[in-house]
Amino acid sequence: MPMVIAIDGPAASGKGTLAKRLADHYGLPHLDTGLLYRAVALTLIDAGAALDDEAAASRAAASLIADRLADPRLRERAMGEAASRISGIPAVRAALLAWQQRFAGTPDGAVLDGRDIGTVICPDARVKLFITASAEERARRRHRELTGRGEAVSLAAILADIQARDARDASRSAAPLKAAADAVVLDTTELDADEAFAAARAVVDRARTQ
Ligand code: CDP
Ligand code: CDP
Repeated sequence: MPMVIAIDGPAASGKGTLAKRLADHYGLPHLDTGLLYRAVALTLIDAGAALDDEAAASRAAASLIADRLADPRLRERAMGEAASRISGIPAVRAALLAWQQRFAGTPDGAVLDGRDIGTVICPDARVKLFITASAEERARRRHRELTGRGEAVSLAAILADIQARDARDASRSAAPLKAAADAVVLDTTELDADEAFAAARAVVDRARTQ
């Protein structure tokens, strides 16, 4: 049976790092689905279109090509915010759904991380994890990451971003951020990346023997 591992959680909870490590460990392909939303936003920005131009956003989502996902600009702070704005457009989500389900349908399985993997994209995933941490801890993690890459930004500004994004992602009507009823919730506020990885592996190993 294919091993699909669905990992969801709010910004900077560590879900991407964890997804990548699980994928390497179990020999599965990994898709960071946030990159799809970031790439749609970047396409609009490059075309000079407004982020609330629903028709342009839907076209960008429908014609998204994998090459775009390697653009280093996708990791910039402003792109997370822009992605969050276009991600509430139902036609964008619908266009990206097929893309993600095709990836999850590879024969051995896959690891996908995002906001709605366990609830909408892969409701039948063998393992569902919901990764969380306090907003303050997530802001510290993201701040460390961005300043490490040379982006000058204050911790307070990152915390404000994260709180605004949490509120927008959780309150939108199209696929809001929430844990699936059958997800294992892992609060990593007090865990480093190695400890989170060990806890997640225990969940996956248990599911594999069932
Ligand atoms: O890494 P971080 O959590 O900061 O951001 P991301 O995962 O790259 O996601 C950026 C934005 O895309 C999120 O704030 C969501 O609004 C949106 N997103 C989504 O709606 N559904 C997903 N499966 C992944 C991302
Ligand atoms: O994908 P998401 O936005 O949820 O977070 P990330 O980009 O995977 O992780 C944000 C940062 O937190 C990375 O620099 C990790 O090294 C660090 N971190 C973690 O991933 N897990 C922990 N339990 C603690 C820190």
